[in-house]
Amino acid sequence: EKGGYEHFMLKEIHEQPKAITDTFRGRMLAEDNIIKMSSIELNLDKFLNANRIIIVACGTSWHAGLVGEYLFEDMARIPVEVEYASEFRYRNPIITNKDIVIAISQSGETADTLAAIKLAKSKGAFVYGICNVVGSSIARETHAGAYTHAGPEIGVASTKAFTTQITVLTLIALKLGKANGSLADHTFKNYLKKMQLIPKQVEELLNIDEHVKQISAVYKDAKNCLYLGRGFNFPVALEGALKLKEISYIHAEGYPAAEMKHGPIALIDENMPIFVIATNRGHYEKVVSNIQEIKSRAGKIIAVVTEGDTTVKEIADHVIEIPDTEEALTPLLTTIPFQLLSYHIAVMLNKNVDQPRNLAKSVTVE
Ligand code: M6R
Repeated sequence: EKGGYEHFMLKEIHEQPKAITDTFRGRMLAEDNIIKMSSIELNLDKFLNANRIIIVACGTSWHAGLVGEYLFEDMARIPVEVEYASEFRYRNPIITNKDIVIAISQSGETADTLAAIKLAKSKGAFVYGICNVVGSSIARETHAGAYTHAGPEIGVASTKAFTTQITVLTLIALKLGKANGSLADHTFKNYLKKMQLIPKQVEELLNIDEHVKQISAVYKDAKNCLYLGRGFNFPVALEGALKLKEISYIHAEGYPAAEMKHGPIALIDENMPIFVIATNRGHYEKVVSNIQEIKSRAGKIIAVVTEGDTTVKEIADHVIEIPDTEEALTPLLTTIPFQLLSYHIAVMLNKNVDQPRNLAKSVTVE
């Protein structure tokens, strides 16, 4: 059942090239230069006339939602807010029939997300679901939606569910961006070309496992870790920290890199490992200067960089290379090393990787 892997989590990490390909299937027709998603096409007017999109979710799905915010605003120029379902449902939110609520949930059974959907519906919003489990409560409760087609995810720590959620969000953002003219034809075309490479690139990236394992051995006894990223990779930093917390029980926090100076930098000393996403586009120079600030305070830097990088390599204690792609698509790649890292650290610490203490796969009570 674990397909020769020691744990479901490792199996599911390795399933990502296939899972992302399955998410594409029938939707991304790169040769024809189109994205086909009937759930969007049938409701295109609603999406194009919406005042804003509100994304509600919990945990890892909320992190995917944050990536969605960057994608939708950048590619389709539609204002997006992302909210924890648990906060949204109880704060008397202002919602109208000009709002679209997108609920993201792997299980489709998360109590708070389900309640947020019911509230949004009662206020007249159009509610779109992004779920993995077919026929789940959230899939049934939403007006329309798209399945991620990641296949069953057994490990409590979400891996392939996250990357396939981001894949669906990217497809929707591209489709809307093309439909409302925010994306030029050649830009759209280029994105499809780059998207198509992602499953192969993830596969290639999974070969760094041994390298990540060595890094894991160096930092497995850390008591605290920081994860930093900017832009599209800020949510990846949050997700990296969550992954480490939930299965290795090491305290970790994710931050936008520039927030360091507003407090967390006080934590840095020679015992603090800091995982930084420093891919070559986006805010590269800014991240490099954030790395220098950390280095001058003796923090240990483990940087995720684009292959061929030389600048960060000189400053960082360790680097993990990812293949080159468009900045907006990097979360699909930068996430992978953090999944592997958490996995190896948890195994080295003898933790129950697939069923961490105190956690359930789906949180059906609030
Ligand atoms: O099934 P859902 O996506 O609605 O679940 C939401 C969270 O409970 C879930 O993502 C949780 O944070 C995972 N254990 C993270 O790995």
